[in-house]
Amino acid sequence: MSMDERMQGNMTCGAARTRECRHVGERYDRMVDSGIHCQYYGHSDFLNYGYWDETTRDQKEASERLVEKLLEFLPRRRGRILDVACGKGATTRYLCRYFAPEKIVGINISAKQVEIARRNAPGCTFLVMDATRLDFADQSFDVVICVEAAFHFLTRRQFFREACRVLRPGGWLLLSDILMHAEAEKRRRYRHEENYVRDEVEYRQQLEATGFNPVQVVDATEPCWKGHFMNVVRFFHEKFFAGEIDRRELAERLRLSYDRVPDTEKYLLVAARRRESAAEPSI
Ligand SMILES: C[S@@+](CC[C@H](N)C(=O)[O-])C[C@H]1O[C@@H](n2cnc3c(N)ncnc32)[C@H](O)[C@@H]1O
Repeated sequence: MSMDERMQGNMTCGAARTRECRHVGERYDRMVDSGIHCQYYGHSDFLNYGYWDETTRDQKEASERLVEKLLEFLPRRRGRILDVACGKGATTRYLCRYFAPEKIVGINISAKQVEIARRNAPGCTFLVMDATRLDFADQSFDVVICVEAAFHFLTRRQFFREACRVLRPGGWLLLSDILMHAEAEKRRRYRHEENYVRDEVEYRQQLEATGFNPVQVVDATEPCWKGHFMNVVRFFHEKFFAGEIDRRELAERLRLSYDRVPDTEKYLLVAARRRESAAEPSI
């Protein structure tokens, strides 16, 4: 069944949600087309804040490190892995360091990004699909990874249910995710008030209630959000002083970055193991 058919088949809960999903994909498609954005990412095709420490040299390195940090939660790097909201396939390409390409599947709401992902990670399978309606059999993956996208999903909880369903018992869900305060979740485009989560404790409880145990939720606001913010602001100032962007573009780029400062509460790294059986205690 095509993406369109799947989406049309669900019109009852539907049309607005479908539109919203597509809009968020299109928003990222516009970034894909932006030359300076690609330059900032060192033409790596990543689309995330990354993980920064004193040794990190640039955004590409930070973005790779973020995937590595998530993979460090795994007791073993093997089996079939699903990269949810795979962007342009840079995260998926990184996964090829540890997983055989034929065991890697990437999905994205955007056909345009999926097209680019196929070039970035040859041998992997890429499909256009909504993260909240995974078109895979139960228990078909050992790992599900989702880098910096679950806050867009309608809803995040529905994605947790789907991830739990497609994971084998004992399989792992790995996420990096961003929490904003309640009013921002409601007001901002591409965010949803249903996704408001107060803190790490509530985030963990949602995963436990879905069927995961144990669940680890780590506050990585400093190395991820703050690291990225400081770097991106410096990058655009450098471009301005080098005469590569004009005052208007500098102002617009800074506005987009500063606009997130008062709204962003936490950047989380999460690892959750699907319970072996329903009988297994939640803690
Ligand atoms: C911040 S980017 C992260 C991309 C990639 N994981 C990375 O780290 O480079 C968010 C991605 O989520 C995708 N996306 C948003 N909503 C989605 C949905 N409902 N289902 C699948 N993908 C979605 C967007 O198209 C975009 O590629």
